[in-house]
Amino acid sequence: MPETVLQLENISKKIGKKEIIHNISFEIEKGEVFGLLGPNGAGKTTIIRSIVGLISKTNGQVSICGVNLDENFKEAIQNIGAIIENPEFYMYMSGWKNLKQFARMSRKDISDEEISAIVEKVKLSHAIHNKVRTYSLGMRQRLGVAQALIHEPALLILDEPTNGLDPQGMAEFRMLIKELAANGTSVLISSHLLAEIQQITDRFAIIDKGHLTHIEKMTDLTADKTLKVTLEVSDGASAMLVLDTLDLEIIEQRENQFVLNVTREVLPEIARALIRANLDILELSKVQFSLEDRFLALTNGGEI
Ligand SMILES: Nc1ncnc2c1ncn2[C@@H]1O[C@H](COP(=O)(O)OP(=O)(O)O)[C@@H](O)[C@H]1O
Ligand SMILES: [Mg+2]
Repeated sequence: MPETVLQLENISKKIGKKEIIHNISFEIEKGEVFGLLGPNGAGKTTIIRSIVGLISKTNGQVSICGVNLDENFKEAIQNIGAIIENPEFYMYMSGWKNLKQFARMSRKDISDEEISAIVEKVKLSHAIHNKVRTYSLGMRQRLGVAQALIHEPALLILDEPTNGLDPQGMAEFRMLIKELAANGTSVLISSHLLAEIQQITDRFAIIDKGHLTHIEKMTDLTADKTLKVTLEVSDGASAMLVLDTLDLEIIEQRENQFVLNVTREVLPEIARALIRANLDILELSKVQFSLEDRFLALTNGGEI
């Protein structure tokens, strides 16, 4: 049985007459990286704020490691480390002193060795005794993660964590998240960037106008069950007759060019059948199937 670290059941939040999030439910397992993907204003931060108790919910239940947030807030919240908006630090103090200060405020006793181990994890050992004001944005973000991890939470929550990072900073951040997850920490990450969610998460939910419209597994998305291919032949009209005899879907035809939906098994059959009919194949290639296509299809309510 997978271990459930976070469970949301029918979370709704109304402010005035406006329902900002509506009946949001999902679960996150141990070691899983789960994404909330949606445009600005979709309700991602509101969902996160309701998980960490920063806003009161209008409806619904949140359980963290099996502990109900409303019934036993202190115990539940101990299992979470979060960065919501920008982490705040004492800029004139070193990273190390900031973490020590934060550790003192924690309910657990945290030794210097434990802090060092976390600093090592987020790859800040080389600069940990420098003042935070000398840190790059990426380094501050990693110090934020160290701070969020200091009490060894089961779930790390990051709200749009790579906003403002340069490509290298983003790549380093992705590596860090993957390492944490490989060591058993679950991660909930929100983003309006499709590529980011695609590269970091195991599963993600699409949030659209406060509604959770779909939950997708990354492996389902990238599995090549059906392929979209482009085909160019010497004679489109004759090719059409051949294609009609095969089990495939013609999405588009323009003279000698086709766009087809096919299964992997049918692909060699297409080539053989066209050659048997004395047609020249000028091109037969796979169209890369991106999360972007999927996202657009899902948010339009359609299916690819
Ligand atoms: N305290 C609030 N009062 C009124 N409206 C709010 C409040 N907080 C958020 N909203 C609205 O709720 C919607 C979702 O906001 P938010 O959760 O911040 O979205 P996201 O993080 O996906 O960009 C937005 O339209 C925002 O303007
Ligand atoms: Mg937000």
